[in-house]
Amino acid sequence: MKGIILNIDKALGFVSREQVYACEDRVKAATEALHRGSGAGSDFLGWLNLPSSITEAELADIEHTARLLSIGCEVVVVIGIGGSYLGTRATLEALKGSFDLLLKERGNPAILYAGHNISEDYLYELSEALRGRSFGLINISKSGTTTEPALAFRILKKQLEDAVGKEKARDRIVAVTDARKGALRTLAGREGYKTFVIPDNVGGRFSVFTPVGLLPIAVAGVSVRDLLRGAADMERATGAGVPFAENISAIYAATRNELYKGGKKIEILANFHPKLHYVAEWWKQLYGESEGKDHKGIFPASVDLTTDLHSMGQWIQDGERSIFETVISVETPGRTVFIPADEADSDGLNFLAGKRIDEVNKMAELGTSLAHVDGGVPNIRISIPELTPYYIGQLLYFFEKACGISGYLLEVNPFDQPGVEAYKKNMFALLNKPGFEKESEAIKARMQ
Ligand code: PA5
Repeated sequence: MKGIILNIDKALGFVSREQVYACEDRVKAATEALHRGSGAGSDFLGWLNLPSSITEAELADIEHTARLLSIGCEVVVVIGIGGSYLGTRATLEALKGSFDLLLKERGNPAILYAGHNISEDYLYELSEALRGRSFGLINISKSGTTTEPALAFRILKKQLEDAVGKEKARDRIVAVTDARKGALRTLAGREGYKTFVIPDNVGGRFSVFTPVGLLPIAVAGVSVRDLLRGAADMERATGAGVPFAENISAIYAATRNELYKGGKKIEILANFHPKLHYVAEWWKQLYGESEGKDHKGIFPASVDLTTDLHSMGQWIQDGERSIFETVISVETPGRTVFIPADEADSDGLNFLAGKRIDEVNKMAELGTSLAHVDGGVPNIRISIPELTPYYIGQLLYFFEKACGISGYLLEVNPFDQPGVEAYKKNMFALLNKPGFEKESEAIKARMQ
């Protein structure tokens, strides 16, 4: 399989290869626990074989629905938060043109996002931007009860119905939710929306290879078949029977856990392509929600380079030595730009004339990793051949598998997220939600 490559050489001054390989038995146990379903959170292991098990009928349904939405809509708004939108956004930002929104002839609907914040300005401006345009809505919520997307849907559904009438609006709304429970399932049934199911055994942050990610990705015109092919190849390459030395998810999990044990509490995911910004956002959710519990877990952070070398670069080079860096490197960019010669050469850059921009970017990348290692920052490198659906499929599955293994090495349940309930309880109490009377009283007393 041609694919992504993991290189831990520049982390080996901080942990030894022997230390990493000494994890082999524990990693094997963790992998077996995942595949046998014998570890914590075993009700949520459906993601493990999603790429290889999706049926032709399921794919055809997704592609057909995507086509219908594409035909009728200039814009499709993906409504969701956390795992219900980050996989889509990570994939589309990596694969679509950075300035596609400015194109007059796009061929596929523009994808916009809502329900991932509660900002009044954001919703007002989105609603203004949609005025006079034909738009559709993909409303995604596994629980079907999350406040942020429910509020956004309420507002945008009304706008759509006011613009085109209830009948036509129905054809432009798709709900992706639980098979049976939750307010969104009830609402979709009542209104007669087309629906897709998020399997019970797949948690939000592991759901990119379900209709949660596949439907909006297909609407945007990206090949979900290629994405799944890449993911399925990675599923095989990181399977239970694959030897430790050949399993890149296993080695990544072992290395980061050994670094953590040695006091490296923060992992910074760095990229040198702005298209990967949302891959890092998706990764932060995946690792942050999976590992940050029981007062343990690596804090996942991210930087976009070289941009952030002019801000966070100082801290990374010279701040507290509690960090390690994982760099996603893209071997070949999708486009070619040569640096022109300039007669006056007033910027002194003629020594670069005739070179590709990417040659400069690659030297920035190499120079940065050497400087960071010299400054005491272990460096893990993940190299991806190109930004294509196939390789993005590989990358996302690679991280998911490593996350499952890593969570078990850390001895936490990587598949729950009890911590996210705390803010909701306070918010509902402050807003006097029915059923929260006792909490309302308590929180108000605290505010006095
Ligand atoms: O990973 C998770 O389970 C969460 O981050 C969810 O994706 C997020 O909270 C959204 O939940 P829901 O899809 O139920 O609206």
